[in-house]
Amino acid sequence: MEIKEGLTFDDVLLVPKYSNITTRSQTDLSTKLSKNISLNIPLISANMDTVTESAMAIAMAREGGIGIIHRFLTVEEEVEEVLKVKRSASVMIENPYTISPDQSAKDAINYMHEKGVSGLLVVKDSKLAGILTHRDVMFESQSNKLIRDIMTKDVITAKPGITIIEAKETLRQHRIEKLPLVDDKGIIRGLITSKDITHNEDYPNASKDKKGRPLVGAAVGVKGDFMERTEALLNADADAIVVDIAHGHSENAINTIRNIKKAFPNCELIAGNVATARGAEDLIKAGVDAVKVGVGSGSICITRVITGSGVPQLTAVYDCAQIGKKYEIPIISDGGTRTSGDLTKALAAGASTVMVGSLFGGTDESPGSFVMKNGKRYKIYRGMASFYAALGRKSKETGNVTANEDLNDYVAEGVEAMVPYKGTVTDIIKQLAGGVRSGLSYCGAHTIPQMQQNAEFIKMSRAGFAESQPHDVDLM
Ligand code: XMP
Repeated sequence: MEIKEGLTFDDVLLVPKYSNITTRSQTDLSTKLSKNISLNIPLISANMDTVTESAMAIAMAREGGIGIIHRFLTVEEEVEEVLKVKRSASVMIENPYTISPDQSAKDAINYMHEKGVSGLLVVKDSKLAGILTHRDVMFESQSNKLIRDIMTKDVITAKPGITIIEAKETLRQHRIEKLPLVDDKGIIRGLITSKDITHNEDYPNASKDKKGRPLVGAAVGVKGDFMERTEALLNADADAIVVDIAHGHSENAINTIRNIKKAFPNCELIAGNVATARGAEDLIKAGVDAVKVGVGSGSICITRVITGSGVPQLTAVYDCAQIGKKYEIPIISDGGTRTSGDLTKALAAGASTVMVGSLFGGTDESPGSFVMKNGKRYKIYRGMASFYAALGRKSKETGNVTANEDLNDYVAEGVEAMVPYKGTVTDIIKQLAGGVRSGLSYCGAHTIPQMQQNAEFIKMSRAGFAESQPHDVDLM
């Protein structure tokens, strides 16, 4: 048997090339997530329950990337996370949340809290009757006062079809924050908010759908409710569905891809994970719009330890990218990214985007809980195939399972861990994107595709690797 060599990030460096780039702003990080979706930066937050729910996905989209909501939620909960992302910014909210004038202030506060909004339109007999904002109910949390007695009745409105510039002028003139769009019959046709307008100005690089709303993806499995889940997520306007299975080069994954594509031909479908050219080709032939690559490379993975299977990440990405190029299907490098250098190497090897878990795990936006150790703050970050993640899933399904029962047959392929608390993910995204921009410049490239053409890897020895780290100094 001929044994092939497999390489990963620390085995190689990119050979510097002549560059005519004078500032990082001359580089362009736009790239393809999948066949029909483009991003402004090549970053995806992982579909893990300690990484991506709506807060992370909103931050990712603001910076030009995308978050994939994890699937370890009920269908309703996952849909709600997608809707929260979609409603966090838009040119116009098509179906604003409404309430009846006969409900109480307490009801309004609860509803606003549940939906994460700061105002409600009051509707009577299908027509706009008033507006209620957070300020109207600020001190009424226990109050039974009726909405009709505290709402603003004379609402400034506009006709559907108003331009954003006109809407901004109306909001400015009247010093208001919300502008309902109402047709000639008094029926609400939409809502424009000052928050959405300033959002568009504050985040010029944001990745948006055709209606100006943040892009968001959502994961599904290959068993149980995956068809209903896909349908519900697509109805909530999820932009991409990710078929999430540890061993993606499998009959289960391929059947799932075929079934989803057959039922929802317009669905932008990503699937994985695979680690070989053959795996990538089989998923592409089954109909995927992007292939997720990485088996055992993740920081919390023990797949290689437990099963002996996997391919070092750089080789896996390179091999799959050759197939991706042939079929014009983007490749996502998933797992093992620790630095912007790793990210740049994955892109140079042919990935169009990179999915990140642990780097985003310890941030304000990740759903993991805080822990303290030796006076330092950490957040929990765990593999989705870890024992406690499996226990959590099982107890959600069956109501009540303890660590001692039912899971004796479960063989974990991931670990529970914690990562240092790092503040907001936005700062990390900026550092990563800045590092890739510099990486492009070292490769003499203005864009990611140019870097992929110019890239020349050099293999390094252990001494070369040691030389690449800070050395012979005491770090502060
Ligand atoms: P990083 O290195 O960014 O990797 O933390 C995140 C990726 O790791 C994968 N993942 C797992 N792999 N067992 C595995 O073998 C697990 O329990 C597990 N959980 C997550 C996943 O691809 C993720 O995006």
